Amino acid sequence: MYVPRHFLMCPPEHFRVTYSINPWMDPGKPVDLPLALTQWEDLRDRYRALGHTVDVLDPDPGLPDMVYAANGATVVDGRVLGARFAHPERADEAAAHRAWYRAHGYADVREPEHINEGEGDFAVTASWLLAGRGFRSSPLSHGEAQEYFGRPVLGLDLIDPRYYHLDTALCVLDAARDDVMYYPPAFSPGSQAVLRRLFPGALIAEEPDALALGLNAVSDGHHVLLPQAATGLFDPLRERGYEPVPIDLTELLKGGGSVKCVTAELRS
Ligand code: ARG
Repeated sequence: MYVPRHFLMCPPEHFRVTYSINPWMDPGKPVDLPLALTQWEDLRDRYRALGHTVDVLDPDPGLPDMVYAANGATVVDGRVLGARFAHPERADEAAAHRAWYRAHGYADVREPEHINEGEGDFAVTASWLLAGRGFRSSPLSHGEAQEYFGRPVLGLDLIDPRYYHLDTALCVLDAARDDVMYYPPAFSPGSQAVLRRLFPGALIAEEPDALALGLNAVSDGHHVLLPQAATGLFDPLRERGYEPVPIDLTELLKGGGSVKCVTAELRS
């Protein structure tokens, strides 16, 4: 029913909110670090219990956002397109990810020319590489990704700063069937029209679930691991044959991310 996936995660050992680069981040709000770690370990253990492989990247004490491992690279067909971060606070994460891939047998690792924040803004379906722009990744990175992966890239304009990365507003449920769920108001009118055309049967999220970062989910094609507060998505997912797996990642929400943000997928 589903194939085991290969993920890369980075423990929130040094997670803090000391700067604000998205509207979710409030440096005045305390983070419960032990709780963040427990919640992260629970997600990692859930993946493993479902039969997925989770590799772990060593956290760097100087990089508090490194727990959001999805931003460090995009891996498709075993080829790695590294990241180049929009904000200087996260810049050094890119090299740590490239080094990990090089050390783990990936022969094609590209240091990108243009700004892209990995799977924050790139989502993979059988037909497309969906690519967000507007807040973080440069539109120029879309051409670079298309050339590198040899897959058609489709640019989507994000317009609401709360949904600053594509993976906060759209989730691929089943790549093979081009099945997605998304929150339309996060996109420009033209991009909404494009999404309707490409994915006429998509699951459309409502605002409370989008605000709970319910779209920041990871699907293996059957199980959909998503923030537990996004309860409005559970039944629609079940009706489509998926199994929602609620995850408690409230501490990591304080940095503006949830399940997908902390999970990089290594596609062979
Ligand atoms: N604090 C991080 C940032 O603003 C959160 C990144 C979330 N990651 C994601 N894939 N959306 O960059």
